[in-house]
Amino acid sequence: MHQNLLIITQFISFLYSLSLLSLQHFTFGYCTMSPAMVMAAKTKQNDNLESQYQKGVKHLCENGINKVPKKYILPVSDRPNMKDRELINVKKQNLKLPIIDFAELQGSNRPQVLKSLANACEQYGFFQLVNHGIPSDVISSMIDVSTRFFELPFEERAKYMSSDMQSPVRCGTSFNQNKDDVFCWRDFLKLMCNPISDVVPHWPSSPVDLRRLMATYAKETKYLFLMIMVSILESLGLVGTTEHKTEEDEILKDFEDGSQLMVVNCYPPCPEPNLTLGIPPHSDYGFLTLLLQDEVEGLQIQHQDKWINVEPIANAFVVNVGDHLEIFSNGKYKSVLHRVSVNPMKSRISVASLHSLPFNYMVKPSPKLINEENPRGYKDTDFSSFLEYISSCEPKRKNFLESRKLC
Ligand code: OGA
Ligand code: NI
Repeated sequence: MHQNLLIITQFISFLYSLSLLSLQHFTFGYCTMSPAMVMAAKTKQNDNLESQYQKGVKHLCENGINKVPKKYILPVSDRPNMKDRELINVKKQNLKLPIIDFAELQGSNRPQVLKSLANACEQYGFFQLVNHGIPSDVISSMIDVSTRFFELPFEERAKYMSSDMQSPVRCGTSFNQNKDDVFCWRDFLKLMCNPISDVVPHWPSSPVDLRRLMATYAKETKYLFLMIMVSILESLGLVGTTEHKTEEDEILKDFEDGSQLMVVNCYPPCPEPNLTLGIPPHSDYGFLTLLLQDEVEGLQIQHQDKWINVEPIANAFVVNVGDHLEIFSNGKYKSVLHRVSVNPMKSRISVASLHSLPFNYMVKPSPKLINEENPRGYKDTDFSSFLEYISSCEPKRKNFLESRKLC
């Protein structure tokens, strides 16, 4: 009897490993299995499937699928398909993110561009940055080496799979694969970038040029982040005049030593893109995120209760305000919800570079932005409270920022 059960469960496992069909597709009515045997077979099968999903979407797709497994199917209300009417409205209004020209920001037009920058951070929480000066070969090499990393055999990428949030390198899938009930359609490589010379030796050694190309990219984006922060601080009226010079130097020094996390996202083609998402709605934790996306659309931001597509612009960065900047600006600049939809045909790569103060620093509203009209709106917060928060509950929507708000 025991023997039979073993053979039957092994046979079913074998069938599944061939077909990856879900268990519900089988009927057991015709065979002689007892309910207990069916349960045992189901449990074993579920365990097998669970461990498949933990290996990531790329691995799942390599096994050949033509349907989205149940594990990735969102409840109807959370699915991405915009109603036709909404889509048409967005197209009609031609809603696009504000574009900030970095070169112009450094020139005689700076006051006007600072106003546009302030407006973008207040109204959208997002802007596209063009003419930023990072050489285009640094950018194309970053996308190229990221693509090659995700093309490595699963076993090579698996070396870097870890659930340790503090690890300098971490491969994984979904949003929080230890907590998510429904998985999202994304694999990622997360690299800590500070202090750069300490962490690079921990980064993947394959492809052979990964460390060199990604370290160059990380340094370039860090410098660009610092330059954008100078403008952001000036646009908030905090620095820029000679009397503020030392203060500006001090804040910048803190950011120079600050934290940088690079998240390389891979979204494989999805057979049923309306049922799932690459990343569910979320906000980013830091001061600013500099996002590089390839030519495939996917990023959507929430604006006036609608989801709008962020059109890819070659060589541009999508820059967004994170939770820490919303707190620091005492709510003036908005950390806005965004999500990623997936594509039926094309694989998509993006690289998010998240910047903040050093991990052990407190982030609090700037005293100069607190007054009678604008009372302090947020509690002091540090990075470890964020880590505690995400490991203790599902990081859905703006929960973390909400938890830092003073009523
Ligand atoms: C992120 C993110 C957007 C994208 O990694 O936090 O929002 O387009 N990514 O991949
Ligand atoms: Ni994000």
